[in-house]
Formats: sequence, structure tokens, C-alpha cells
Amino acid sequence: MKLEDIFREKKAEALLITDPYNMRYISGFRGGEGMLFLTRDRRALITDSRYTEAASQETDFEVIEENRGHRRTAILRELFSETGAEAAGYEDQSLRCSEFAVLRNALPEVKHWIPLGGSADCLRRIKTPEELEYLRRAEAIGDEAFQALLPLLKPGMTELEAAAELEYQMKKRGAEGFSFDTIMASGIHSSMPHAIPSEKKLEKGDFITMDFGCVYRGYCSDMTRTVVLGKADEKQKEIYGIVLKAQRAALELIRAGLPGSRVDREAREIIEKAGYGDCFGHGLGHSVGLYIHEEPRLSPGDDTILEPGMIETVEPGIYVPGFGGVRIEDMVAVTEEGCENLTLSPKELMEL
Ligand code: GLY
Ligand code: MN
Ligand code: MN
Repeated sequence: MKLEDIFREKKAEALLITDPYNMRYISGFRGGEGMLFLTRDRRALITDSRYTEAASQETDFEVIEENRGHRRTAILRELFSETGAEAAGYEDQSLRCSEFAVLRNALPEVKHWIPLGGSADCLRRIKTPEELEYLRRAEAIGDEAFQALLPLLKPGMTELEAAAELEYQMKKRGAEGFSFDTIMASGIHSSMPHAIPSEKKLEKGDFITMDFGCVYRGYCSDMTRTVVLGKADEKQKEIYGIVLKAQRAALELIRAGLPGSRVDREAREIIEKAGYGDCFGHGLGHSVGLYIHEEPRLSPGDDTILEPGMIETVEPGIYVPGFGGVRIEDMVAVTEEGCENLTLSPKELMEL
């Protein structure tokens, strides 16, 4: 998918891009606040004085400053009248209803408003070699930070302290930020896939599920490992073994040409056959790039055909309320023959 395809398929003469990740992808502008105005011949970024200096270094778009004396709607009126564009595509998934209402009222020049849905997001689906390099490095930072954290995990440390240590280790290695709030779920908290780290102390015998990612040059990493503090009991070993088997089967299968739903089914059937189907509620994976959760997904409802250069996470889990849970997550780049696994941390059950 290219910008020209969006103009043609949507019959748009101008595109208003407001999603911060799409703004960055299309123009290079990292500030996130503003709007891109694009026609086939004109490319402008409207933003305010907090960002204009940086923007002029980041993008070759014409940078137009909005301020109290030169409001965005006035700038857009000028742009529409100068270009003669009458059909405007807008990002209905990121523009607020109230902002859209303001634009529609203020711009009588626009005769047709065309919702773009996720069209501009589709530009980002297949990663370039440069993007793949950033994603590899982002995931490597996660791998290194995880190795640095393992010897520090001790009974008595709180989940919050462990999460802070992991984040520190990522920052020390060049992370600009985090892909999402770090999950550090111990003991019975680990049955909550998106548990929030708490003052709970790590205890001997706890599962500890760590799901974390960092941002490197704008690109997100994402990985999960579950370990046992001390010796694992039989049920912990059983659950861990099933999740690992499901993950390996999906990693073995994934390749270009398959629908994401097929890869999800591969892992899901293993978990179902083992009797834990009800304990795996989420999809198997999602794409990743400038944003942590991108399309297409590996999930029962997504039949998008995978293509080389797409990134997917493979993250099956089993969550047993009142007992605990396991998730193992790798991030892979899809290739013609299979995949390149960007996550290199070991996966055999670790008893710390
Ligand atoms: N916890 C975010 C994810 O793995 O998708
Ligand atoms: Mn994750
Ligand atoms: Mn994930």
C-alpha cells in the first residue's frame, strides 16, 4: 500500500493525517501534535511553536505554524483554496468527533468528507530493512535487560521494584522509552494477563510473568517470559510445558502466505486439547512497529494473509485464576519460508 493507492481507492484529493504514528511515518515529524495536509502535489505539516524548530529538521514537508493569530482552520482554508481540493480524506480512527465537527463547519470548501479508516496504518505494515534493524535492536535491548534482571530477582523484592529495575536496564542500553507499561506479575497475579505491578513481594514458588518492551528510534519491542522463583511444582511445569509447546508450534508454522487466523489456530488447538482452552482468552499475537499493537493480528478473526516483512508477536498463554499464569512471547519478522525470531532469550522453564 502506497499513499497514491489511498488517493485513488478513496477518491480523495487531499488527505488530513492526524494519527501521530502515521504523521511520523509519512513525514518524519516526531512531535505527534499537529496535522499533515497532503495532496498529490503539496505536502504540509501544521504544528505549533513547541515543535516547529524540530519539525524543520525532521521533515522535508512545508512546516506551517499554527497559533492564536493563525488557527488551524484558517490554515486549512488557505490550503484547500490554494490547491482546489474538494474531496478530503480524514482519519476517523484518530480524529475526535468534536474536532471533525469543527473542521466540517469551518471548511465549506470541502464538498466530500471521506473517512479513511485504517488505510494510512496499512502503509506501515511491511517493514523496510531500516525499520527491521531498529526493531531487532529494540528487541535485543529487551533480551539484554532481561538477562541483567534475572540475578536480581529475589524473594522480598516488590513487583514495582522488579519492574523499575527492568526498565532501568532497558534505558541504560539505549531505550528512549517503553512500548507499554511493564507487566511484572507474580504468584496469583500472573493469572491476570495485563496485571498492574504492585507492592506485592516476590515469594518463593511464585510464577513471575514479565511482559515488557522498549522504544528504540521510535520502534517498539515486545516480549514476555515467565519464570519460577525457586522450584516449580508439577502444575506449574504442566502449564508451562503446554504454553511452550503451543508457542513452538506456531513459530514453526508461521510464514508468508498463511492467514493470521491459521497461526492462531495452531497454538490454540494445542492449549484446547490439553484442557485449558478456557484459560486462553486473547489472540495469539499482533503486529508491532512505531506502535505496540498494529495490524494484522494472529487471531481467530483476522484472515489477513501474512507477507514477508510483517512483524508479529507469538504469545500464547494459560491463565488460571487463583493459581497463576504463564505467557511466553517472541516477536518475529515474517519471511517467505518462515520467520526470523527477533527474541533470543531462552525459553526452557527457568527456576531461579
Ligand atoms: N502486553 C502487551 C502485549 O504483549 O501485547
Ligand atoms: Mn508483550
Ligand atoms: Mn504483545
